[in-house]
Amino acid sequence: MSTGFNVAIDGPAGAGKSSVAKKVAEQLGFLYIDTGAMYRALTYAAIQEKIALDNEQQLVQLLKENSLELTPTEFGTTVYWNDSNITADIRSNDVNKHVSLVSSHKDVRLLMVEKQQQLAHAKNAVLDGRDIGTYVLPNADVKVFLTASVEERAKRRHLEQLEKGQPSDLKVLEKDIAKRDELDSTRSFAPLKQAEDAQIVDSTQMTIDEVIQTILALVKEHSV
Ligand code: CDP
Ligand code: CDP
Repeated sequence: MSTGFNVAIDGPAGAGKSSVAKKVAEQLGFLYIDTGAMYRALTYAAIQEKIALDNEQQLVQLLKENSLELTPTEFGTTVYWNDSNITADIRSNDVNKHVSLVSSHKDVRLLMVEKQQQLAHAKNAVLDGRDIGTYVLPNADVKVFLTASVEERAKRRHLEQLEKGQPSDLKVLEKDIAKRDELDSTRSFAPLKQAEDAQIVDSTQMTIDEVIQTILALVKEHSV
């Protein structure tokens, strides 16, 4: 039984989930839980350990034998794998490409979901991911399905790369994002899909602040 007030924000890559969830949590004084970072961390560690990413049991073992911690800071979430800070490493192209395969394994997901539920049940929290409203927290107080067109989402990632001074090809990004959407939506266990009782927010033409205000209004509506 949940004791915290939980806000679930699901949606495809680049919809604005993490930017928005972080700010919404900050405004509400809630914990922000970036569930994508957990799957990314395992993917990064598995690549480092040269584990075959389709080997479910080895991935499960890797997760059980190591510690994965998310620490909220004023700049976002810091991710530790044992004592190593891997926050930047989990955003690499290599991880982008392989994370959907790693996260498609049911036993991997069950372990991650257990951690996520423990955190969310103990505290008021905003969680973002793919299956929060449908699977992790089916009784979340507020559920948002945040989306935007593939073109707009690829453009956002493209701008991010250019701002970091990194090479970027808009067409390649569009293809990679569409591929990841497809893998995440078609996996058999807890796929990306809108919960029936989620509010859809299409951010294609919205600023980050407009999305934040829309979600805060939904929270307020629920609380009064
Ligand atoms: O930030 P971006 O939307 O690119 O991705 P993310 O939220 O960091 O999630 C990375 C990947 O982890 C997704 O493409 C999914 O394959 C997986 N994921 C998941 O399966 N379930 C979640 N609750 C969160 C992420
Ligand atoms: O977490 P997710 O992959 O859903 O998206 P994100 O990493 O929060 O957002 C992707 C990029 O789009 C970031 O650079 C945001 O600043 C930007 N963004 C935007 O320009 N307009 C929005 N309404 C939402 C996000």
